[in-house]
Amino acid sequence: MIDVPDPLAQIPLVILTGAGISAGSGLATFRGAGGLWNGTPVTEVASPAGWQKDPDRVRTFYDQRRCALAQVEPSVAHRALADLQRSVAVRIITQNVDDLHERAGSSDVLHLHGVLTRVRSCLDPTITQDIGYQAQDPLARCPRGARWRPDIVWFGEEVPLITVAQQVIARAQEVWIIGSSLSVYPAAGLWQDAPSSARVVYVDPHPTTRLPDRVQVVAASADQAVPGLVQEFLRRMRTGLTSGPAPC
Ligand code: APR
Repeated sequence: MIDVPDPLAQIPLVILTGAGISAGSGLATFRGAGGLWNGTPVTEVASPAGWQKDPDRVRTFYDQRRCALAQVEPSVAHRALADLQRSVAVRIITQNVDDLHERAGSSDVLHLHGVLTRVRSCLDPTITQDIGYQAQDPLARCPRGARWRPDIVWFGEEVPLITVAQQVIARAQEVWIIGSSLSVYPAAGLWQDAPSSARVVYVDPHPTTRLPDRVQVVAASADQAVPGLVQEFLRRMRTGLTSGPAPC
């Protein structure tokens, strides 16, 4: 008997991650000190116009990030979430394009903004190819003869998985937002699609985003906060206390 998950069943915990969870692995975030967008104009390397204008510059930007990704390991927080996912039906939705959740052992990760280790046909976005951590070959062509491009959702492009993500978070009993400045929509507004009864926890060492009082802010790094959050969540699951304040 194949166990078909109930599409309407509640999900004990949905986790939305951003670049901050990979900071513990040594990868740069986008904003704040040392952010990727500090030295590189977004429109030049992460937009369709930038690709049209100078595809070599765009390819180099992502080649460099793929090379950096090959040299790092999942963080303490990635691993703690993967451990949790082994015992609880946790869904992970990430804005990150790195593969560190998967390398930590997480599964069924929903990548809202694409995947760094993959390229897609410029002619047909359903035609993709995994290139791992290699530099993209500018001369390679897809089976339909078109150029490949990074399989990344660029600024100004639709977020194909946002509806799926909204359907997931609408079933959440609890939401953790880990390592995101909540600057980029529609991902930044996703947590608000959770039921009003859902507990929402926001983990960020420099919480600048204005959030409603219902959100429990944990002003700490992901590596400092996530292991404790996981232990406290498991304790509540064991005792049946799925509500109540998250740790300060
Ligand atoms: N642990 C947790 N959070 C951290 C850590 C850490 N060790 N270090 C930094 N942070 C926080 C920062 O304070 C910041 O609030 O992580 C957040 C990272 O914010 P951004 O750099 O804006 O990254 P993110 O929110 O993921 O960006 C969203 O913007 O450029 C686009 O597509 C790109 O997916 C990206 C989207």
